Amino acid sequence: MLNDVAEVAPGDGALLNRCVRTYADAPVFKEMDRPWVEDNPFLRPLLTCDFPGFDTTNPLSSDQLASNASLIANRILLSIYERDFVFLPRHELDQKWENFNSYYSDELRLLGEIIRPQLERYVFSSVNEEVNISGTWTIEVFEAYFNDYREGFKAEGNQEVMTAITSACNPTAAALTYLIQLAGDFLVESSAMARNTVGNYGPLQSEMFKVVIDECGYGVHPVKHSTLFERVLQSRGLDPVPHTYWQFYLPTSLYLNNYYNYICRNHRHLFRYFGAILQVETAFRVACKQMADMMKTVFGKHAETDYFAEHIHIDTHHSRMALENLIIPAVKTYGNSILSDILRGFEEAQIIGSIFSNGLKKQIEWADSFFASGESDSPSEERPFRVIPFSELDKHRRWEGTRMSDMDTVYSVRSGEFDLVAGYSVVASFGAGQRVRVPAGVLFAYCPSADCAYEVYQC
Ligand SMILES: [Fe+2]
Ligand SMILES: [Fe+2]
Repeated sequence: MLNDVAEVAPGDGALLNRCVRTYADAPVFKEMDRPWVEDNPFLRPLLTCDFPGFDTTNPLSSDQLASNASLIANRILLSIYERDFVFLPRHELDQKWENFNSYYSDELRLLGEIIRPQLERYVFSSVNEEVNISGTWTIEVFEAYFNDYREGFKAEGNQEVMTAITSACNPTAAALTYLIQLAGDFLVESSAMARNTVGNYGPLQSEMFKVVIDECGYGVHPVKHSTLFERVLQSRGLDPVPHTYWQFYLPTSLYLNNYYNYICRNHRHLFRYFGAILQVETAFRVACKQMADMMKTVFGKHAETDYFAEHIHIDTHHSRMALENLIIPAVKTYGNSILSDILRGFEEAQIIGSIFSNGLKKQIEWADSFFASGESDSPSEERPFRVIPFSELDKHRRWEGTRMSDMDTVYSVRSGEFDLVAGYSVVASFGAGQRVRVPAGVLFAYCPSADCAYEVYQC
């Protein structure tokens, strides 16, 4: 029977698809008529209207992670994983009581557990297959390998994103896109890893706990890392409540969140997490220096950067703690066989980080191209007549939700106004006789005026 529930081959009419549809039918997961609702962390549109045809028979390959199917799967997975986390609105819980009860209901929890292993296989098979561990590994060999990695690490992928932001035609819009993607992870920072602090596994557990209490600011709320990031968001006028901008998350950003939940939720992957945390803590201290520099370049020398400064400092310690207090004692206690899992986590974390950076860079560059169009060579019928932040868009515009473009698509406007949303602060408007191309692999939404007529050509 368990086989039927957890391992059934997915496909049309299979149990998985029925569960996914029932799960996504919950009111908290329905499409909304607007891009965000303030102060309600339970509402998470799952792109329900795109479920017909949703098929997980073949796992996503690495070049399909920026697809619409990936967006749907990753939204569902995060909504399942985060049922383990406590969320409350800032105010007026009574008005959100139904959403609160629905999100944490037994029915959604059970359905989620049937769906989860199937979707994990669907989205994570490609990264699992990309890593091949061979050869004989000892802790000495691993330490030498890691030291080489640390000394040579320059966070090039992250630096490319920072350069895309600072050299953008509209660096502010690009930086806001970036901060929103970070928010999905940073506002629940350390929640996934905290799953490894419970149970009883000796001194290693207490060493893990030391890292988590740093992340939580030793119980001092104003210096908890997620609180520091809330201040970054507030300094730029963004809502600090988790997942307000859920509809703007790229599938490649959700994927990063989901990966850490995946390896932390199932304790079979504990040693994989040891490797991943070593990579992340080592890389993040370098990336945070780049982020702090970007914030100052874009927003001036008084930009709110405490979050980044804290990590430049503390993650140097966390990197050392992960190696000396977790990995070395674990291998000494349990032998070299766990090194293959540790290495796997270390390698996979690098791949996941690159997927995050590449997806974000592509989105930022595409969205920024609309600001460039005034001076560019593009013909006038392809230049938006206006580019504004979403907050300035006519409130009566129809909102149909964000999705990923799976192939190059051209929208040709016959009448009215066609507003294309390429990000939180990038709404490009096109009028009669104009056209706009949406390339494959970007997140978008369109908001046509009531009198708008347009044609769609897929290439
Ligand atoms: Fe942190
Ligand atoms: Fe850390």
